[in-house]
Amino acid sequence: MGPLWKNARMERISRNGRPCFVLVGGRQRLGRALAEDLARDHDLVLTSSGDWESETWVEELSKTARVRTLRWDAESPELVSRMMADLDGLAAEGWTVAGAILVAGTFPEQLLGSWEPEALAATWRLNLTFPFLCAQALASHLAEGACLQLLLDTSLHQPWLKRLPYSAAKAGLAALVPGLAQLLAPKIRVVGHALGAVLPAEARETAFLAERSLVKRIGDPSDLCRAVRYAAASPFLTGEILTLDGGRRWV
Ligand SMILES: NC(=O)c1ccc[n+]([C@@H]2O[C@H](COP(=O)([O-])OP(=O)(O)OC[C@H]3O[C@@H](n4cnc5c(N)ncnc54)[C@H](OP(=O)(O)O)[C@@H]3O)[C@@H](O)[C@H]2O)c1
Repeated sequence: MGPLWKNARMERISRNGRPCFVLVGGRQRLGRALAEDLARDHDLVLTSSGDWESETWVEELSKTARVRTLRWDAESPELVSRMMADLDGLAAEGWTVAGAILVAGTFPEQLLGSWEPEALAATWRLNLTFPFLCAQALASHLAEGACLQLLLDTSLHQPWLKRLPYSAAKAGLAALVPGLAQLLAPKIRVVGHALGAVLPAEARETAFLAERSLVKRIGDPSDLCRAVRYAAASPFLTGEILTLDGGRRWV
């Protein structure tokens, strides 16, 4: 499959002819899977709260794609100024951002009655405050026609009872999808993905989660990659949340 951004608008294309996507949370698990898939035909800006030095797989990507790694930590008091400086720097170097995917999150399990304000604030900070601030920073740096994509959860349809603060944060993000779509239109489109189980917190949950779906399997990272590519390449799609859960919500 060729690059998604073959439309006439050359401002969306990086200097080497490949569209560039920013992946916020592109170092681990689903973020890394997306990075490895997109690197086939995109340049990438990958962010992490951690150190990139030991991530040798990024060197592999760099053989085919132009890759820049950044450190964006939701816990850092300098987060906003850091993001703005990084994005201004990329623009000055000629990077044109054709899309962004906000992947970072946290999935803590804790029973109602045991939550303390600090843990609650941390859960909401990474799952809601951080993506909001990233969206705000990226908005003015995305090229015309770009798609901003947010990773949500099928808990929108049925909250995780042992993970209510996570579910509430994702519901907040879901409200951002049509809100940002209206604020950023017509230049930028905004799409959410309400994802079902793909990489379970514990491997032993796989069979149970597969049974609780219509398709009798859990998701694969390639299911998400396909949807991300579809959203990026669909200029008539905005303000919508795609549910990718194998029919989980109908079981
Ligand atoms: N996995 C699933 O089956 C599933 C199902 C439904 C929805 N989702 C959603 O899909 C997204 C990715 O899921 P995942 O399972 O791959 O995520 P995960 O294992 O929960 O990964 C967390 C991500 O958040 C980043 N992160 C952690 N602390 C951070 C901080 N202080 N500042 C900035 N970033 C931080 C991590 O990157 P660094 O440590 O490199 O910073 C990592 O990329 C999440 O939003 C999740 O809610 C996942």
